[in-house]
Amino acid sequence: MTQPQEDRLNQLIGRMLGDLGGAFSVPTVRMGLRLGLFEALHTHGPLPAEALAQKAGGLAPRYVREWALAQSANGYIDYDAEREVFSLSPEQAMIFVVKDSPVYLAGAFDLVAAMIEGEPKVENSFRTGDGVRWGDSAGCLFCATGAFFRPGYVNNIVQQWLPALEGVTEKLESGAKVADVGCGVGFSTLLMAKAFPKSSFIGYDFHEPSITAAREHAREHKLGDQVRFECRTAKTIGETGFDLVTSFDCLHDMGDPRGCAKQVRRMLKENGTWMIVEPIAGDRAKDNMNPVGRLYYNASTMICVPTSLDQEVGEGLGAQAGQAKLTEVIREGGFTSIKRATEGPFNMVIEARA
Ligand SMILES: C[S@@+](CC[C@H](N)C(=O)[O-])C[C@H]1O[C@@H](n2cnc3c(N)ncnc32)[C@H](O)[C@@H]1O
Repeated sequence: MTQPQEDRLNQLIGRMLGDLGGAFSVPTVRMGLRLGLFEALHTHGPLPAEALAQKAGGLAPRYVREWALAQSANGYIDYDAEREVFSLSPEQAMIFVVKDSPVYLAGAFDLVAAMIEGEPKVENSFRTGDGVRWGDSAGCLFCATGAFFRPGYVNNIVQQWLPALEGVTEKLESGAKVADVGCGVGFSTLLMAKAFPKSSFIGYDFHEPSITAAREHAREHKLGDQVRFECRTAKTIGETGFDLVTSFDCLHDMGDPRGCAKQVRRMLKENGTWMIVEPIAGDRAKDNMNPVGRLYYNASTMICVPTSLDQEVGEGLGAQAGQAKLTEVIREGGFTSIKRATEGPFNMVIEARA
């Protein structure tokens, strides 16, 4: 066995220190979000711990001081040691307070907690090779997933992704029929519906609690007449005549993505479009050894692969399937024109037409 080299070891330890600091911050950040501590700093400006505790609804000051020092050490809030006050910068507010900011990360922290909760079931699946049903690994996997993706959707679907597709925005403006397959809690469906009031939308997902939450969100936004949500596996959707089908961050989660592609082909009008939003990835695993690939491979191990392996066929594409593999899957559905319409730091948007 070769001996450890001191400089390489020190480098790795330095990295672990940062990584573990991030991991240790997950529970304190989540509590700070739920208890309204970030929000109170944002609303009331710089505060000493005692006042922060009071502004956040009368919390125990000793806990709040320790929390505030932890967040200061994290760099998630600022600490003025002279005046003993804590504050939130505009950039920190974008991460922890402003829900429609493109970098609002509350959902990401919840997703980490859901992955930890899911450990026993996924660990068992490593031994058996079985899958874990979507939603079974953790109570709030589905709501955390919705919250995790929402900031990206709020800032991209209507502004960037739909306009990148050929002729689709025009159809939506004049009134189109749209299906959002694998819609989860429905944020993507509702965002599109709000932006295109003349179009009608049906969100489909096979997870009943997600569909229940999606229906509630539609009611809250008073979009009940324009949007309907149905509990269905992708392959059993019977409705046809769609101008546009969308699938956001879900094709790779399906057990039979090729079967889904065939079904979407049947659902679409002859000149219809399928927009597939998938995690950005290179075609070779070695292209994904980067911070984004790191997040996705970890989430894929805990969520995407188990979900797919639980279903019929169990293709197990994984979150980092890459465009070439996805194109092959989509082509099997009978699509001949398949291209990357646009991309962002976390997603690629694939346009498929017959
Ligand atoms: C990562 S989540 C994305 C949800 C939603 N599109 C979003 O972006 O927030 C994957 C979704 O795919 C759904 N799903 C997985 N396999 C499915 C299938 N075979 N048919 C329908 N939905 C499926 C899950 O229930 C889950 O809601």
